[in-house]
Amino acid sequence: MTALAAVVLCAGKGTRMKSEKAKVLHPILGRPICAYPLNRALELGASSVVPVVGHQAEAVEKTIRAFFPDAPLHFALQREQRGTADAVRSAEEALKGYSGRVLILYGDVPLLRRETLQALLAAHDKAGGALALVSTVLEDPTGYGRVIREGGKVARIVEHKDATPEQRAVRECNAGIYSVDADFLWKALAQIKPANAQGEYYLTDLVEMAAKQGPVGSVGSVEADATETAGVNDKVELAARARVLQQRINEAHMRAGVSIQDPATAYIEEGVIIGTDTEVGPSVTLSSGTIIGKGVTIGQGSVITASTVADGTVIKPYSVLEEAKVGERNVIGPFARLRPGTELAEDVHLGNFVETKKAQIGKGSKANHLTYLGDAKIGAGCNVGAGTITCNYDGVNKHVTELGDGVFIGSDTQLVAPVKVGDGAYVGAGTTVTKNVPPGSLAVSRTPQVTKEGWVAAKKARKASKVQAG
Ligand code: UD1
Ligand code: MG
Repeated sequence: MTALAAVVLCAGKGTRMKSEKAKVLHPILGRPICAYPLNRALELGASSVVPVVGHQAEAVEKTIRAFFPDAPLHFALQREQRGTADAVRSAEEALKGYSGRVLILYGDVPLLRRETLQALLAAHDKAGGALALVSTVLEDPTGYGRVIREGGKVARIVEHKDATPEQRAVRECNAGIYSVDADFLWKALAQIKPANAQGEYYLTDLVEMAAKQGPVGSVGSVEADATETAGVNDKVELAARARVLQQRINEAHMRAGVSIQDPATAYIEEGVIIGTDTEVGPSVTLSSGTIIGKGVTIGQGSVITASTVADGTVIKPYSVLEEAKVGERNVIGPFARLRPGTELAEDVHLGNFVETKKAQIGKGSKANHLTYLGDAKIGAGCNVGAGTITCNYDGVNKHVTELGDGVFIGSDTQLVAPVKVGDGAYVGAGTTVTKNVPPGSLAVSRTPQVTKEGWVAAKKARKASKVQAG
């Protein structure tokens, strides 16, 4: 296999977005636009990926690095936007010493599919020349570079502004996606001159140069409407691309055996894994890094980020999970909030208005109502009563609360950490636990109840006599 590197053009400003934020950083289905083409290049095994940055270079680089912390990225800076050839040329230094294929992609084209790029590389192999490109046949080709063929073979690309009326009638358009041999690329780029209507360095000039040396490979975009290779220029287009992406992802899950009640309102980001027979309710968001098992039910309005949910678990409506690990056959929510570091074993039940953070909870334990469990280690078979709070923060440091197995915590208990409750112990309702409770014992801290019989009638009588006197 020929070596592969990629250059992804991310230097543009995106004036029509009317935003302080660089165009390629606008989110589409939970990640920046440019994360999609970058991901495609990495998926294909590119040994080096060069994002060419320019407008808001620092912010764009920072976001991309945060998104792909372990990827072989080498950033290049294009100081001035002098055209697509100039943009690619600024990547030469970053790819010094590399020989093989260079995939050239635009950072503002989020819908481009892996299959199309694989077809492009195959077309490059098959033609055997220095370059291959992706073309799309458009109803209205206005603005695009036209693919000019001679005897059926790609001869050159002519930009709309430079085209003759005859050339403008051609509907096969250049998508701006190429595979180019590195040695040819750098030599040819050095020869390109801005002798055209826009006074720009056109990357498309490469095509004629390559065609003079040998056959140029070409592949049509596989999707009929060519939205696959369409960029994002304004926020209307951003929303339109997001819709296509959402539908594409949801359909793939449904074909793989996931039930999605209302695909129009299910937002499942790229890379989320979902098992068969899982049911996704309306208005559910599943963010990247999430893995859902088989036969899971995810209730309406739930938002799950970077979490794992094992087989058979039921997440009732409006629950929010963030960096949580949920075991098999749990029942969570409605309105539960599982924050980072939550680790639940099998058969755990967490009910409405229960919040957990850095909490490990053992098999079969339950906290069904109005509870905060933070920095907690809870054994198996525990029952945590309504309104229980772990007081984990003393104003300076966080401390751990530990419950053994089979512990019963009465309602409205405060566990002032650091504190331990041993196996099988009971804590009476309303207790403030400040000292460790040994296994098998009962801890109660409430003041003894005082009952004054007939007190209400006596009080009324006192009040009545005061009124008479007054
Ligand atoms: C380009 C192609 C055209 C093709 C079209 C497909 C050229 C000369 N023309 O035209 O044949 O049909 O794409 O969409 O290549 N960019 C930089 N630095 C620059 C210039 C551009 O980073 O100096 C980036 C832009 O941010 C954008 C991409 O490159 O993401 C394309 O640039 P743009 O000027 O929009 O190209 P088009 O005129 O659309
Ligand atoms: Mg342009």
